[in-house]
Amino acid sequence: MPANRFWRSLLSVPAINRRALEKAKSLAADAIIYDLEDAVAPDRKAEARENLIRLYADDRPAGITAIRINPLDTADGRADMEAAIACRPDAVVLPKVGTIGHVSTAVSRLEQDAAAGDMKLWAMIETAEGVVNAAAIAGAFSSARAGGRLEALIVGVNDLRSETGVAPAAGRIYLVPWLMQTVLAARAGGIQVIDGVYNDFADSEGYAAECAEGAAMGFDGKMLIHPNQIAPANHHFGPSDAALAEARAIVAAFSAPGAERLNVVNLNGRMVERLHLEQAEALLLKFATLQTKEKDT
Ligand code: COA
Ligand code: MG
Repeated sequence: MPANRFWRSLLSVPAINRRALEKAKSLAADAIIYDLEDAVAPDRKAEARENLIRLYADDRPAGITAIRINPLDTADGRADMEAAIACRPDAVVLPKVGTIGHVSTAVSRLEQDAAAGDMKLWAMIETAEGVVNAAAIAGAFSSARAGGRLEALIVGVNDLRSETGVAPAAGRIYLVPWLMQTVLAARAGGIQVIDGVYNDFADSEGYAAECAEGAAMGFDGKMLIHPNQIAPANHHFGPSDAALAEARAIVAAFSAPGAERLNVVNLNGRMVERLHLEQAEALLLKFATLQTKEKDT
């Protein structure tokens, strides 16, 4: 995965809310997702599309941006896709992806239109069908392969709870098997995987705990609903000081004289293999990229 294509914090901004659209320009989220789907009432979809067309034309937002469209089997979804191609964000977010077919319809639409360039797709896994088919979906159009458009899976916990009847519970215990299945599917496909939103944006303690949990589960970042949620996500999904120190120690151990021909080394009484060296190098590269980004902003 190219070092610059990862996001710790992905803020959803309702495309109907002009104040929020303006505010988003000054926020430190790694990516902004302009939402045309569930955050916009049915009779205001056209107005929301016009807001985005104007936004990208007048003063194209800096940084990584995506547009979440309505399902492509609806008239709004098709109009949203047309608007997204006119805006040319980095990615289009597909809601309620249940089958490979949902992604292939979007891929065909992008391939038909030269104006789409190399826009990527991020698929929301938020239905029972989507979780069951996550591995096939992640594998079919993976951007890890040349020309593949699917760059990330994002879990949609609110829809998943509502469709399956799973009640909210501490630690998301009943959702964890499906969340982990989605993480595994994304890893098998070589793409990123983003944790779902935390609705109670006034509860900073509960939110921090969920960020820590999501990072420990292997998610790359988290989808957010409120500006207050950005800094904790950047913290929890970024490399910790302890992880950086460990990565530097592993690189140093493999750089010691004579270690270049070893596959395993002893690091303070622990076995470290070359796969740990690769992980350590990837982490240091990610950190260096983040530092460059923070210097630029
Ligand atoms: N993006 C950009 N700015 C946002 C924002 C967001 N998602 N959520 C809030 N803000 C802004 C507000 O406009 C306000 O700006 P101001 O200081 O210029 O007035 C400031 O942050 C503080 O907001 P606050 O008063 O705490 O909340 P609110 O009542 O304005 O908004 C929500 C609360 C939940 C309605 C709003 O956060 C929201 O719409 N979130 C996204 C919902 C969404 O996208 N859902 C679909 C995906 S799950
Ligand atoms: Mg949803």
